[in-house]
Amino acid sequence: MVIIEKMTTQHLAEVITLSVVEEQKKFVGSIEDILANANAQIRPHVILEDDNIVGFFLIDTAYSKTYDFASQSHSIGLRSFFISKEHQGKGYAKQAILALPNYLSEAYPHHSNIFLTVNCQNPIAKDLYLKGGFEDTNTLYHGGAAGPQHIMIKAIESGIKAVNLKA
Ligand SMILES: CC(C)(COP(=O)(O)OP(=O)(O)OC[C@H]1O[C@@H](n2cnc3c(N)ncnc32)[C@H](O)[C@@H]1OP(=O)(O)O)[C@@H](O)C(=O)NCCC(=O)NCCS
Repeated sequence: MVIIEKMTTQHLAEVITLSVVEEQKKFVGSIEDILANANAQIRPHVILEDDNIVGFFLIDTAYSKTYDFASQSHSIGLRSFFISKEHQGKGYAKQAILALPNYLSEAYPHHSNIFLTVNCQNPIAKDLYLKGGFEDTNTLYHGGAAGPQHIMIKAIESGIKAVNLKA
């Protein structure tokens, strides 16, 4: 079963070995380019299976400032989600997407929505996100370098447990 963790400097040597196959590069690019985007607002995460890093994504807490379609307050973005080529087809992406709601409700409880964009030429990823509870907004984002992208959204449940007033 995969787990999600914030990336630390200890993960770096393994993270820089991650890559997708050539025809997928238009969807996420190289890990060097992805890591160049990471900063205090755009936080790198790793997907681990048995202590091995099999995948990666960014959580962008500045997404609502960058993308007009996400301008509702308290929205964050999922970016650069991928499973490294040697680990694809083993169910890890699906496990990670299904683990995401719990992770976000614990790690980002004060954000109400998570957005992503997925290229219209990438139906495998779009189906994956639908299975993970993301909804297609039926609007397209045209700002990407590789053609139009579907805009998808998912609510983040608050991780703050309700207080039982009767207790
Ligand atoms: C999309 C991606 C994350 C899927 O990762 P994965 O670990 O191989 O996916 P899984 O093994 O968890 O499979 C998830 C589903 O996709 C299907 N799938 C995965 N690869 C497939 C392929 N090449 N052809 C057809 N279906 C495929 C699986 O059958 C599975 O379907 P199911 O839920 O009905 O069983 C991976 O291909 C990838 O990293 N692609 C490049 C980067 C990318 O496009 N990221 C998305 C950016 S928005």
